[in-house]
Amino acid sequence: MAYKFSTLASRYVGHTGTRLLMDDLGEALESDRDLCNLGGGNPARIPAMDEVFRAAMARELESGAFTRLAAVYDGPQGYRPFLRAVAGLFRRHFGWPITEEHVAVTAGSQSSFFMLFNLFSGEGADGVMRHLRLPLTPEYIGYGDLAARPDAIVSSRPSIELRDGRDFKYHIDFDALTLGPETGAVCVSRPTNPTGNVLSQDEVARLMTLTGEADVPLILDNAYGAPFPNILFAAGEPLYAQHLVYCLSLSKLGLPGLRTGIVIAHPELIEALRSFNAILTLASSSLGASLVTPLFESGEVLRLANEVVQPFYRERAALAVAWCHRYLADTPFRIHVAEGAIFLWLWFPGLPVSSQRLYERLKARNVLVIPGQYFFPGLAEPWDHRDECLRISYAQSAREVEQGIAILGEEVRRAYAEG
Ligand SMILES: Cc1ncc(COP(=O)(O)O)c(C=O)c1O
Repeated sequence: MAYKFSTLASRYVGHTGTRLLMDDLGEALESDRDLCNLGGGNPARIPAMDEVFRAAMARELESGAFTRLAAVYDGPQGYRPFLRAVAGLFRRHFGWPITEEHVAVTAGSQSSFFMLFNLFSGEGADGVMRHLRLPLTPEYIGYGDLAARPDAIVSSRPSIELRDGRDFKYHIDFDALTLGPETGAVCVSRPTNPTGNVLSQDEVARLMTLTGEADVPLILDNAYGAPFPNILFAAGEPLYAQHLVYCLSLSKLGLPGLRTGIVIAHPELIEALRSFNAILTLASSSLGASLVTPLFESGEVLRLANEVVQPFYRERAALAVAWCHRYLADTPFRIHVAEGAIFLWLWFPGLPVSSQRLYERLKARNVLVIPGQYFFPGLAEPWDHRDECLRISYAQSAREVEQGIAILGEEVRRAYAEG
């Protein structure tokens, strides 16, 4: 049957970067091959966190809460006790002047961004065509495919600081960041997926001022950030402003399968999300929210993030960096300073093959990575750098990560030797 799809379908159906990523993830889960999966964004299984969630689920079953939750649609803003618990946590621990009317639960933060990007980009009710501005790339692969208009995202190159040894770090090029009437919102992930970059407090403060002056929302994506899961190895405290749209997720705490995203924003935006969410999903699932509500009420989620999740990834990051230095030593590799999230971002200056080709060669050897070119949403100008970088995750077992990096070393050496 030859389906006659809409033009909108061309945005969402086909070979997007997000699709490649999720296909590889699914394939890795189902495969009986001995794969080194350094590709996807799955968090690690941290035994102490598994235990917390299993105990919470046992309590839900025991008390009958599970049946009550599973048998009803919740309201489209999300599970009320959780909305109250989130607002309470931010009020008590960070002094944010917010109530439950500033909080919404979504079906994962990918779904939060789908709604936000389509609320703020495209033709406005006033006839002005607006775009979403990413202050720097590389940025999260999943942003590129969300907005209904293909040209809805505009981004720019970062400045690159080369550090001693093999390190480098991206910074926002504020000279290139002009906001105007056609800017619908500014969005940035912190820590940044794929690079592990953490924007400094100063960079975030400047973004807050610029967006405040331009009267546009600043969307801060904290999927890995503060205050939970807090996979931050550099300063990154939560900051508050009225025009801030603070996005969080339970995924990297260890619950990606329960699809729970959280948005904290001005009540007027929460009201819009409530309507949008009703159309998209009727109601988000309450299961993840209800499992963690007691952890939010007591503040225990902050202790778990700081004392369990963050140290786990900090150790993994240090190991992965050490393996890169060992197995890539005789190549001209550079590595972005690992300041957070669950990835390393590698740069191979002058790489004679594209990172897409390198990805294919690695896949043929059962090592999954993500080629760099997908992480530059909205960057219109050509830039060789895109094809010289790739992302590896260090969330999987140490054995898998070390073996994957060792094979990566062989393939990178081969590519340079061919060049
Ligand atoms: C930076 C960033 N934002 C958002 C998401 C979406 O996460 P979820 O929909 O599981 O909350 C991810 C997932 O990997 C991510 O890396």
